[in-house]
Amino acid sequence: MISVTSADERDLPFLYITEASVFSDAWSEGAIRGHLLSEHTLSLIAREGDTPLGYLLASVLPPEGELYRIAVCPAARRRGVGRLLLDELFRLAIERGAEKIYLEVRESNLSARALYGSVGFETVGLRKNYYRRPDENAAVLVKGLV
Ligand SMILES: CC(C)(COP(=O)(O)OP(=O)(O)OC[C@H]1O[C@@H](n2cnc3c(N)ncnc32)[C@H](O)[C@@H]1OP(=O)(O)O)[C@@H](O)C(=O)NCCC(=O)NCCS
Repeated sequence: MISVTSADERDLPFLYITEASVFSDAWSEGAIRGHLLSEHTLSLIAREGDTPLGYLLASVLPPEGELYRIAVCPAARRRGVGRLLLDELFRLAIERGAEKIYLEVRESNLSARALYGSVGFETVGLRKNYYRRPDENAAVLVKGLV
């Protein structure tokens, strides 16, 4: 069974290694540690038994939340892990009083955009040349929670 819980400092090696292997513009270990220790943030990890499969980093400052990072290990993809992480984000964000969740995604990231579309995110804007390594536009997406 796959479970989703809060991540803590013991999960840092998994988060850092996965982040570095999945993203071309990966957050540093320090940035991830800072996120884990910050107020108004959510850090979630999905596990099957003791094996970590994926993580999600977000902030919730009602009435809005923002999703910063979601990643699932390549071998565990298309098993619903990304959707489980997002469902837990929505549940906790609603509990904390958020009414909507924003995110930015690379225009070319079709798998992530398919995932976000499947859980109700809608595209509301475009940020030109928002990303580096490589340079790319960001699509801005939002999902209402209420
Ligand atoms: C995007 C990502 C998190 C999806 O995780 P996942 O666990 O594979 O997603 P799920 O299994 O929960 O997929 C849920 C739905 O999203 C859509 N989806 C996910 N991956 C897809 C893909 N490669 N192609 C098409 N649709 C996809 C499908 O609708 C899927 O439902 P289905 O499997 O019943 O068809 C994963 O591909 C990943 O880690 N990518 C690299 C990191 C990244 O790009 N993160 C997002 C930017 S911050």
